[in-house]
Amino acid sequence: MEPDLIAGGYDAVYAAVPNSPTLRRIWHESAEGVDFPEEFGHISFTTLLELKRMAGELHLKAGDTLVDLGCGMAGPALWVAREIKAHLIGVDASRVATEQAAARAKELGLGEQARFVVGSYADTGIEAGTVDGAMSEDALQYAPDKEAAMAEVARILRPGGRFVFTAYELDPERAAGLPILGDNIVDDFRPALAEAGFTVTAYEEAPGWPEPMTATYSAVVGAKEALMQEMGEAATNVLLLEMALTLEHKPYQRRILAAATRE
Ligand SMILES: C[S@@+](CC[C@H](N)C(=O)[O-])C[C@H]1O[C@@H](n2cnc3c(N)ncnc32)[C@H](O)[C@@H]1O
Repeated sequence: MEPDLIAGGYDAVYAAVPNSPTLRRIWHESAEGVDFPEEFGHISFTTLLELKRMAGELHLKAGDTLVDLGCGMAGPALWVAREIKAHLIGVDASRVATEQAAARAKELGLGEQARFVVGSYADTGIEAGTVDGAMSEDALQYAPDKEAAMAEVARILRPGGRFVFTAYELDPERAAGLPILGDNIVDDFRPALAEAGFTVTAYEEAPGWPEPMTATYSAVVGAKEALMQEMGEAATNVLLLEMALTLEHKPYQRRILAAATRE
């Protein structure tokens, strides 16, 4: 699927998400976990424990520059930026997501240390070698060209900079031909990382996989009527299509956490 179609789908979802207490409740209870600070809520499966691990693996210090790829509303990245007192640049293909992330940064008093740009994994528009650390949560499986995405992260990071992400490895047979996931089916991110000049220091299956994805997606699909009322038909259909396809076809092999150093 073309990146602008993905962005269009996400635009519709992000515009409607703030209207849906049902989606927020399901996500908080089943996906991010009840201990995750609500003001940094998100739409990935990042728990507070995992986010603390990611923040530690970034090896950043106050004043450093952090990039979040596929940042969405940027809850996890803003949490890290606040903890470390880092400057944040969030990149997402969805304009609506970047606008919401910027508004949220301002509300949280982080407006001075965060900015958000519309861009793609392969073309962030960020100057080469200016970034100290990069993160991404549950977004890189959508990259239409994973090697180009890794090469772009290597380009913007300074030597020694760290790249820490969670993402889904795709199952080549089950993911083939499914919309959204496209035809760049990658079942292991390590070759693309090595090709881009990274040394991989951690590459692990996320604890609990495939829960809580199954529980969260099943709860969201089951709440269709409430979501239709709160989010409207178009956004609900985009959201439920991806979740129903994921539950039916199981295109993900596993969810991994990776940490790597740019040489
Ligand atoms: C599952 S969401 C995760 C968002 C965020 N990381 C979070 O924790 O809530 C995946 C994000 O990837 C973004 N995305 C998808 N394809 C992209 C691309 N080619 N370039 C940049 N962002 C993309 C979507 O717009 C969406 O915000």
